[in-house]
Amino acid sequence: MNAPAKTEEFAVQNPMKIPDGVYAETVLAVEHYTDRLFRFRMTRPAAFRFRSGEFAMIGLMVGDKPVYRAYSVASPAWDEELEFFSIKVPDGPLTSHLQKIKPGDTVLMRKKPTGTLVLDALTPGKRLYMFSTGTGIAPFASLIRDPETYEKFDEVILTHTCREVAELKYGFDLIEEIRNHEFLAEVVGDKLKHYPTVTREDFSHTGRITDLIESGKLFADLGVPPLDPAVDRGMICGSAAMLKDTKDLLEKAGLTEGANNKPGEFVIERAFVG
Ligand code: A2P
Repeated sequence: MNAPAKTEEFAVQNPMKIPDGVYAETVLAVEHYTDRLFRFRMTRPAAFRFRSGEFAMIGLMVGDKPVYRAYSVASPAWDEELEFFSIKVPDGPLTSHLQKIKPGDTVLMRKKPTGTLVLDALTPGKRLYMFSTGTGIAPFASLIRDPETYEKFDEVILTHTCREVAELKYGFDLIEEIRNHEFLAEVVGDKLKHYPTVTREDFSHTGRITDLIESGKLFADLGVPPLDPAVDRGMICGSAAMLKDTKDLLEKAGLTEGANNKPGEFVIERAFVG
């Protein structure tokens, strides 16, 4: 028999030594959208509980060291699998490796999820805006597939702004999936509105979301009144500059920022990176 005699020997021979106290999950599917974007699905540990909209630390062994990065869980809390939507950074410490994963590979996940883009951090309202740019759509991919979102709000507006049309595909696929889903289609009904825009190409809607809020075009296109703190709630996820500029506009409209321990009229995910 060729079994290693000692554990230490086995560890040396085994290329994927798993650090203590983290989950090691199996990649189930990978889909590449552009040379900058991909999504993957992996197994979900039975004990892993999270609230839709939260993020987890996802990692890989790079050499003999684990490398982690914050990732919003893109799948809803009820899903048996976990989904993530990722950027590919050519020299990124994690994403340069993560973009090469294939079904059957192992991905690490730290055990505790966290985050502010959760329904509990908002005071009750009627209309929920989810403002996203790029992979910032990920926490909203979770929330728009969670029935609780539609129990709490009469209308859910997902805005997604990218540089190019090809980068919007993940969002379009999500909406399509919901419309065709056995149970979600009925729960969601006509409450969900998708507002995709691009900034560096021609498309049906163009421009930064901040400009579209400021000019009022967003509201005119959607056929809704301007932002009103009495009924409107917001969640923001995107680059640092986008978070700041969108936050300023919501505050100008009279909405105040909330947090897990102090629900408010809008929330921001500051852990998000590109
Ligand atoms: P733009 O093309 O005008 O820079 P990125 O890929 O750089 O994260 O950008 C994703 C999208 O977010 C792009 O459409 C980009 O528009 C937009 N964006 C970048 N900065 C801001 C900002 N401060 N406010 C609103 N949108 C922004």
